[in-house]
Amino acid sequence: MENKQLMIEYTEYDSLQELPETDRRLMEAAMEATESAYAPYSHFHVGAAVRLADGTIVRGSNQENIAYPSGLCAERTALFGASAQYPQLAVEALAVVGFHEGAFTEASPCGACRQVMSEYELRYGNEITLFCYLSGGRIRKICGVKRLLPFTFEAKL
Ligand code: THU
Repeated sequence: MENKQLMIEYTEYDSLQELPETDRRLMEAAMEATESAYAPYSHFHVGAAVRLADGTIVRGSNQENIAYPSGLCAERTALFGASAQYPQLAVEALAVVGFHEGAFTEASPCGACRQVMSEYELRYGNEITLFCYLSGGRIRKICGVKRLLPFTFEAKL
């Protein structure tokens, strides 16, 4: 028997201004995407933006439904939209941000969205970099789904 530990490495930036321009633009696209959220039930607006291998940015926002489970998170809206429109382009990065009571706020992908990120890493054979907006305007960067969803399901089908 052996007890083991897992360390998760990530980076935090003090503000959007500290990010390289391409990454700052991705987070700004996610911030703009909060405006298209349809969240009449939770009133919590989420914006996401996916950057593809050629630099194309695809936006997504949460889309709620009166039958609650039929709604979808911003991250999956963006990832599925990107894959449906540009199936030949790998997903390089994803940015996510919340908007609530008039201000941008923290958001981090739920388990189901992490699983979908994992699928696109498998599909395209590259790690996806995630940028999360944190309270106070800090930005967290995490490289690769192995740091978000350790011991991911794998199957040899
Ligand atoms: N939501 C997202 O869009 N992304 C997340 O990372 C977590 C939650 C949405 C789902 C729902 O529309 C609202 O936020 C409140 O949970």
